[in-house]
Amino acid sequence: MKTRAEQVQMQIYENGDKRATLLPVSFEDWERKAKDTLAAGPFDYVHGAAGAGDTLKANLNAFQRYRIRPRVCCAVEKRDLSVNLFGSEMPVPFLLAPIGVNSILHSEAETAPARAAAELGVPYVLSQVSTKSMEEVADVMGEGTRWFQLYPPRDHELTKSFLGRAEAAGYQAIVVTVDSPLLGWREKDLNNAYLPFLKGEGCGNYFSDEVFLSRLEQPPQKDVKAAAVKALEEGNHKAFTWKEFEFIRQQTSLPLLIKGVTHPEDAALAIEHGADGIIVSNHGGRQLDGAIATLEALPSIRDRVDGRVPILMDSGIRRGADILKAIALGATAVLIGRPYAYALAVAGESGVKEVMKHLIAELELELALSGRGSIKEVDESLIMKVD
Ligand SMILES: Cc1cc2nc3c(=O)[nH]c(=O)nc-3n(C[C@H](O)[C@H](O)[C@H](O)COP(=O)(O)O)c2cc1C
Repeated sequence: MKTRAEQVQMQIYENGDKRATLLPVSFEDWERKAKDTLAAGPFDYVHGAAGAGDTLKANLNAFQRYRIRPRVCCAVEKRDLSVNLFGSEMPVPFLLAPIGVNSILHSEAETAPARAAAELGVPYVLSQVSTKSMEEVADVMGEGTRWFQLYPPRDHELTKSFLGRAEAAGYQAIVVTVDSPLLGWREKDLNNAYLPFLKGEGCGNYFSDEVFLSRLEQPPQKDVKAAAVKALEEGNHKAFTWKEFEFIRQQTSLPLLIKGVTHPEDAALAIEHGADGIIVSNHGGRQLDGAIATLEALPSIRDRVDGRVPILMDSGIRRGADILKAIALGATAVLIGRPYAYALAVAGESGVKEVMKHLIAELELELALSGRGSIKEVDESLIMKVD
């Protein structure tokens, strides 16, 4: 019987004559096609990073410093990609990362990746700054696993409202992003004078929230810019502290993850203040330029956390090999960001599905060719550091 990976490969090889009209395979081709599809503003919004882009580059380069050291003659007919997170079995060790304001990429906005994820059984982390509301997204996902990402609002009543709505709409975990108390210095967006939120995009959760609406002098229909500015102010909580994190902890019984940690001391503090999971992330290099790459940060966080809570990571995952390396260094699962954003721009739901199918196929092959039959067998012995 053919493996999933072999089926995907054969489908592509057998359609060789139509190749030019088919969807891309490599990350670089998706990125190129997205550039052809989108205007400069939206493309650069996804592609760009903070400052000189040093952290974005560092994220990618870090993967080059580790190589997989395969074992051979290991009988790899069975390949198990599943992992367990918070008591739930996930078919693959990746989730779709929260990416806001998808309406700049595709008319279906967040409902497209949400549908694609639900169909493949991949968990979807919905950004708080989505253009579709969390309820609209939940509606298209059926039983699909969904988590909700929160940019902690300054207003505690709004925090409670978002959390209550997420729970009611079937979101199964909360991700609090803490690396963005201010918007990073994004040179491309500044150059394009591009901030889609000012036009009310990415405000779906705010503009459908009773608490938020009650704080406005005019409804968004009358003054969209003022409403959007208010939403942006809520989303950049400059006075956020561990005490505020604890407040969120007290408001929900769902698993609570913290996203944006790269220092082992912060990982320890997060657990102390009630986090059930750590997401090692630097926002894909979009916030603090010059910051440490996440793959570099992972081992010290793994050692400090010492198995107390699961560690997830993102920022730079492009291919199956990257996923294996992150797992080898201590991640239980990873989050996929830009690859699916580009695919969404190029081909909507089917593009996102294609990217995930390819990642699954490639990961399965990488696992087998490295001599392992299961993700559970992946540990540091899989890789070696080269300098
Ligand atoms: C266009 C774009 C929008 C993003 N929006 C959010 C967001 O709303 N909330 C969040 O926590 N992270 C957001 N992120 C960060 C991603 O969740 C993730 O950390 C990042 O994409 C990982 O880097 P990579 O895409 O280079 O792998 C965004 C990233 C991009 C590229």
